[in-house]
Amino acid sequence: MNPTRELKAPHEDQIEACVQQGDCLDRLARIKDHSVDLVYLDPPFNTGRTQATTEASYEDQWPDLNAYLEFMNPRLEAIVRVLDDRGILLLHCDWRTCHHFRHRLDSLMGPENFVNHLIWMYGLGGSSPRRFARKHDDILFYAKGRDYFFEPPMVPATSNRMKGQMKKATDVIDIPAIDVIDVPAINNMAQERVGYPTQKPLALLEMLVGACCPVEGLVLDPFCGSGTTLVAAHRLNRRFLGIDRNEQAVRLARRRLKETAVSTNRDSRKRRSVRSSS
Ligand SMILES: C[S@@+](CC[C@H](N)C(=O)[O-])C[C@H]1O[C@@H](n2cnc3c(N)ncnc32)[C@H](O)[C@@H]1O
Repeated sequence: MNPTRELKAPHEDQIEACVQQGDCLDRLARIKDHSVDLVYLDPPFNTGRTQATTEASYEDQWPDLNAYLEFMNPRLEAIVRVLDDRGILLLHCDWRTCHHFRHRLDSLMGPENFVNHLIWMYGLGGSSPRRFARKHDDILFYAKGRDYFFEPPMVPATSNRMKGQMKKATDVIDIPAIDVIDVPAINNMAQERVGYPTQKPLALLEMLVGACCPVEGLVLDPFCGSGTTLVAAHRLNRRFLGIDRNEQAVRLARRRLKETAVSTNRDSRKRRSVRSSS
């Protein structure tokens, strides 16, 4: 089966097929070459501990760094294979492995296809009296080839001439356009928090998906956790496929997506009835 074929305009009851449980290496083997527009991956960071909340947990430990990189290598190769020629890969990692991934992706995708080293800076954790605080993650942006898709984020225009309008952010003064992304981490009280460890903020994923995948394009997240990338894709009218080997993650991601589908359908019904009554 080619799982990507059934994903067009996913409805509530199709969501099960768009979030698959299993090792992404096995699942990736069933995906056609060059069929994915954007792969965002946020794998375990090799922190050496179990990542846990009261609701869910996953293992994030390998015997040593080599074992971790050996785990990641074949998965990265499979990800590069499924990427379309205009496709983009975004690899989310941190100070522990970023330099290894940079090196590995240079050899897998070609150093000329490196596009950005994005910094996601957040407020929580990372402080120590023995060093400067570690307050950011790294997101490596590689393109499959020279002709990749990119749509700069939209920001409110500042000039008098365009006051009140949105414009493409391409300047350093347009904050979302710079390579340091200032989106707060999800705190314990945040409404979007679903209780999955290391859940990423929806605002971060919406910005990345909106900029790096065309409308109706296919977004793949092979380590999807609670499904943040998939929710972002769904809200932005992109198709999506998520994979996670953790049963709790898959259950949570499907639930989030069903809730998103229900509220999206409700909103569009409301818009239609406002249009027809006006
Ligand atoms: C950092 S978390 C992803 C969090 C996610 N971005 C979110 O916002 O919820 C990493 C995920 O990788 C999953 N994982 C680990 N090894 C995997 C494998 N071989 N195949 C698929 N998923 C895997 C874990 O279960 C975990 O959910």
